[in-house]
Amino acid sequence: MRIIPLVPPIKCQGIKTKLVDDIRQLVGDIEYFRWVEPFCGSCVVPFNLRPPKALLCDSNVHIVNFFRAIQDHKITAQDVREFLRDEGAKLRKQGEDYFYEVRKRFNENHASLDFLFLNRSCFNGVMRFNKKGYFNVPFCRKQDRFAAAYITKICNQVATVSSVIANVDWEFRTSEFKETIAEVTDCDFVYADPPYAGRHTDYFNSWSSEDEHDLGTRLASLPCKFILSTWHSNEFRSNHAMNDKWQNEPFHIFTKEHFYHVGSSEDLRHPMLEALVTNFRAEHNPAKREKRQQTLPLLDFLSNKESIFCEN
Ligand SMILES: C[S@@+](CC[C@H](N)C(=O)[O-])C[C@H]1O[C@@H](n2cnc3c(N)ncnc32)[C@H](O)[C@@H]1O
Repeated sequence: MRIIPLVPPIKCQGIKTKLVDDIRQLVGDIEYFRWVEPFCGSCVVPFNLRPPKALLCDSNVHIVNFFRAIQDHKITAQDVREFLRDEGAKLRKQGEDYFYEVRKRFNENHASLDFLFLNRSCFNGVMRFNKKGYFNVPFCRKQDRFAAAYITKICNQVATVSSVIANVDWEFRTSEFKETIAEVTDCDFVYADPPYAGRHTDYFNSWSSEDEHDLGTRLASLPCKFILSTWHSNEFRSNHAMNDKWQNEPFHIFTKEHFYHVGSSEDLRHPMLEALVTNFRAEHNPAKREKRQQTLPLLDFLSNKESIFCEN
């Protein structure tokens, strides 16, 4: 049975809420000392898998500061309720001018509560920064964005992640992926979810095919198990690494079709076949699960000709 995933309070492009269950199954009963994510983003994967010890890194300092503020009790669910109630009332009264006032304030002061406000009231919930590192997403145009029910939903998300963080030994760190991977040991388990080359490029996401190649080389020589989230293909192009790098043992490729809702152009809205690449054979192969309520042509285990299925 599919477990409803815990949804974190911060949204970001490429959030893997829909892959959490598949990743959980691939990890299965594998034992590791520390969970390492060089590209943690919203942290939806660790919040759901809840490893007792983790190193969660991202180059985006605002994401890291937000989770650290929760960890250090500088931001509580009650703080969020009061902040969004007061700021939401100003937004309701002043409209989009107020959104841009908060955006200017955030770009000067980088306050985590402003970051949350912008993340939850900007257009399409995307996270984008210009070349100077300024958040530059426009307003979602919903003046009553922070209605009481929406605030409660966000506060519940903050309360849930606070209680998860309080019970684990997690380090949130601003770090480039190369630095994070350099300190991985054979006791770790790495989940790497880089930006997809050619998509959503911005100040914190300037991901090139050279970066992709570099990451692949570093992952391939890791002393521990890893799962890489990447793209397989869409109707326009294919990821050459699937054939060039990951096709043969010890690597395995799982794929899953995913529809991107976030994106300014039609190209970004086309279905993309996502891939999960591992350097191990999954002990609890989800292929053995029954095909119940399968609503999408979901998972196709390419490298050993088996399939894994996920209920929707
Ligand atoms: C696809 S998102 C990760 C999504 C995350 N797994 C989730 O489910 O929310 C990629 C992340 O990589 C970060 N990033 C981009 N370039 C990076 C780099 N060179 N080093 C470390 N992190 C980077 C971005 O800030 C972004 O948060």
